[in-house]
Amino acid sequence: MDQPKLNAESLRADPRVAQAKLLLREALADHAGQLARCDAQAELQTDYKAALDQFAALRGNALYYPFLGSGIGRGSLVELADGGVKYDMISGIGVHVCGHSHPQLLDILIDAALEDTVMQGNLQQNSESLEVCRQLVTLANRQGAKLDHCFLTSSGAMANENALKILFQYRAGSQRILAFDHAFAGRSLVLSQVTDRPQYRAGLPATVPVDFVPFYDADRKEESQQAALTALRSHLARYPAAHCGFMMELVQGEGGYRTAPRAFFEVLCQELRQASVPIYFDEIQTFGRTLAPFAYQMLQLDEYADIVTVGKMTQVCATLFGDAMNPQPGLLSQTFTASTSALLAARFILTQLETGGFYGADGRNAQIQRRFCERFEKLRRQHPDVISGPWGVGGMVALTALDGSSGMAKKVLFELFSAGVIAFAAGSEPTRIRFLPSLLAVTDDEIDAVCDILEQTLLRLHHEQ
Ligand SMILES: Cc1ncc(COP(=O)(O)O)c(C=O)c1O
Repeated sequence: MDQPKLNAESLRADPRVAQAKLLLREALADHAGQLARCDAQAELQTDYKAALDQFAALRGNALYYPFLGSGIGRGSLVELADGGVKYDMISGIGVHVCGHSHPQLLDILIDAALEDTVMQGNLQQNSESLEVCRQLVTLANRQGAKLDHCFLTSSGAMANENALKILFQYRAGSQRILAFDHAFAGRSLVLSQVTDRPQYRAGLPATVPVDFVPFYDADRKEESQQAALTALRSHLARYPAAHCGFMMELVQGEGGYRTAPRAFFEVLCQELRQASVPIYFDEIQTFGRTLAPFAYQMLQLDEYADIVTVGKMTQVCATLFGDAMNPQPGLLSQTFTASTSALLAARFILTQLETGGFYGADGRNAQIQRRFCERFEKLRRQHPDVISGPWGVGGMVALTALDGSSGMAKKVLFELFSAGVIAFAAGSEPTRIRFLPSLLAVTDDEIDAVCDILEQTLLRLHHEQ
C-alpha cells in the first residue's frame, strides 16, 4: 500500500482511529440495543416539565410537542429526556433518514469529528463539499436532465432563496413568481409570500407578487387540468414576460401530500416552455422519498427541470441549475454551507439512496407506502367514518382522520404522541396526518406496530365523539 501523502490521510488510517470506532460502536450497540417502546419514567417528569417550560420561555413559545430528545435511539425508536421511548414516524420532518443512532453513521460522524473544522463555508471547503456536489449533479442528471451546477447551502429556505435570485437575475426585468395553490416554500420574507398560508405571513410586508395556479384535484380530473391551464394562461397574458419562473412541488408536502399524474404537469410545462418561463421543482421534501431519487424523475419530467432545490434528507441543502442560468459572481455566497458532519452524512446517505434498492415500483420506498396503505385501507373498509385516504407517494404517507378538521388532526396527533407515535399534520381543509419514516431504518414490524397504535387511537376517539 502507498504511504499516505497527506497528514489527514495518515490520521484517518491510524489504527487507533479504527480501534476507537470499534469501541464506540460497541458502546452504542450495548446502550441503544436496550431500547424498546415505553412510557416516560415518573421520577423524571418534574425535571422534564421544568426544562420544557424553560425552553418555551426562552424561545417565546411552547414547542409543538413536549419533545426533548435524550440523544439516543435505535432505528425508528427515539428516547426522550423523560425516559419515554417512541416511534419516530416524522424524522425531524423528513430529515433523519438514517433513523436514530445509526451505527454506520456513527463511524462517519467520527470521521467528521476528526476533521479540522466544524463548519464549511464558501471561502473554505473540504473535499467532501466537492463530492456532495458531484453526487447530487450525477444523481439529478441520470435520466437526462441538464443540471450542470450545484450550489450548497444551509437550509431549504436558503436553497429556495438562492434559486429565486438565480431566476430573477436570469430573467432580468421579471418581478413575479408563479406557484401552485397550497404551496409551501419556506419561512423567509419572500418565501412566505409563495407559501399559500396567510397565517405564515401575518404582519409581513408583501415582497414579491405571486400568481397562484390551482393544483390537480383527483375528484375533478379533467376540470382541474383545465382550470390550472386557464389560470396559467391568464397570468401569463396579464403579466407578459413578468415571471421569473414557476415554482412547483410535484408532491405537495405541507400542502397535504397531494400529487398529480405526469400529464397534468406536462401540459403546464409545455405552456411555460412556450412562454420561456423557467420551470423550478422544489424537491426539498420529495427528494429521496418518491419512486425515484427526484420526483421529476419518477414523473419523467427531466427535460423540464430548469432549476431544482433539495434539502432535508440530504442534510446539506442545494440549488441545482443549468449552465444558462449560472449567475454572475457576487450573487450567491454565505459564511456557512453546512457542518462537516452534515456533509459527510450527506455523502453516505446519497450513496445509500443510489445503491440501496429504494426506487422503482418494488423498491423499499414503494414497499413502505404499501405496508402503511394496506393497513389504512383495511381500517377504512371497516370504519369509513374513521379514516379516508391514503395519500402520498413512497416514503411520504398520509391519511385523513375522522372529520379532517385541524382541531381533530391536532387531537389525533397528541393522542398518538402519548401512545408512543410521533407524526405530524399536513395541509388544511382537510388537515391530514402525515408520516415521514426514516427510510434507511424503518422495519416492517415497526410499521405494523405504529399502525396498531394508530388504529386503537382512532377507534377510541371515534367512540368518544
Ligand atoms: C417543499 C419545501 N420547500 C421548502 C422548505 C423549507 O425548508 P427549510 O425548513 O429547511 O428551510 C420545506 C420545509 O418543510 C419544504 O417542505
